[in-house]
Amino acid sequence: MPKFTRDEILTEIHKLDTWRHRITLSYGVVTPGREDCTKELERLCLPMNLTGLRVLDIGCSDGFFCFECEKRGADVLGIDDFSTTPLNDGNYGFAIAKTLLGSNAQFIKQSVYELCAETIGLFDVVLCLNVLYHLRHPMLALEIIHGLLRPHGVMYLKSYFHQDVRISRWGLDLSTRPVMRFFEGDELNHDSSNWWAPNRYCLEAMLRATNFSNMKHLCTCGNRIYYQCQR
Ligand SMILES: C[S@@+](CC[C@H](N)C(=O)[O-])C[C@H]1O[C@@H](n2cnc3c(N)ncnc32)[C@H](O)[C@@H]1O
Repeated sequence: MPKFTRDEILTEIHKLDTWRHRITLSYGVVTPGREDCTKELERLCLPMNLTGLRVLDIGCSDGFFCFECEKRGADVLGIDDFSTTPLNDGNYGFAIAKTLLGSNAQFIKQSVYELCAETIGLFDVVLCLNVLYHLRHPMLALEIIHGLLRPHGVMYLKSYFHQDVRISRWGLDLSTRPVMRFFEGDELNHDSSNWWAPNRYCLEAMLRATNFSNMKHLCTCGNRIYYQCQR
């Protein structure tokens, strides 16, 4: 028996003007987010069974992936600094969805740069989905994430990436060189929180340089690229 009536759910949902994620609640009510992330789960090949594993979702926003990992048995912590996810009169999507779902997933308002194993412990799985290109210091963030993984822990990474023009006008094959484009303003998608767009080779080099191993390219979908890699 759901703890909230359909009307109560709708009232709670409307406390937030803007949702990012479409999260399914009781009575088939879905949060009015612009992103349906169900396809993402397939692209990431997230294990169906996460029982007993600790999962950290960096830049979790409204928490779609946190709640999904919890359903699969994980003990979940989501963090977000709200730099691009809205906070509306003290309300935010994760807290509303958590209450309505009766979830035990935890949330801390924190930046990735503030995370430290002494305070939040180590994790078996870290999700870093669509966050890297929003960071001013992506290499620092990758180093921090690496330090938060248990031995053999896995990071799932999804990022915007820069697709190279293969041959430059000087005849150089740019696609085999690590390149990262920098956006000072809102040149990328009219969003001033987008700072960096690495090409595929650069992203892979960054992962190696921050000591990730067993890197696996999961898929590429439009201008997003997906990896799984290990501590
Ligand atoms: C494009 S959204 C992605 C949300 C979610 N991970 C997904 O894939 O649907 C980027 C999220 O990262 C958060 N974010 C940006 N910079 C951050 C930082 N330094 N530390 C923690 N979260 C950050 C934003 O607030 C936003 O919620």
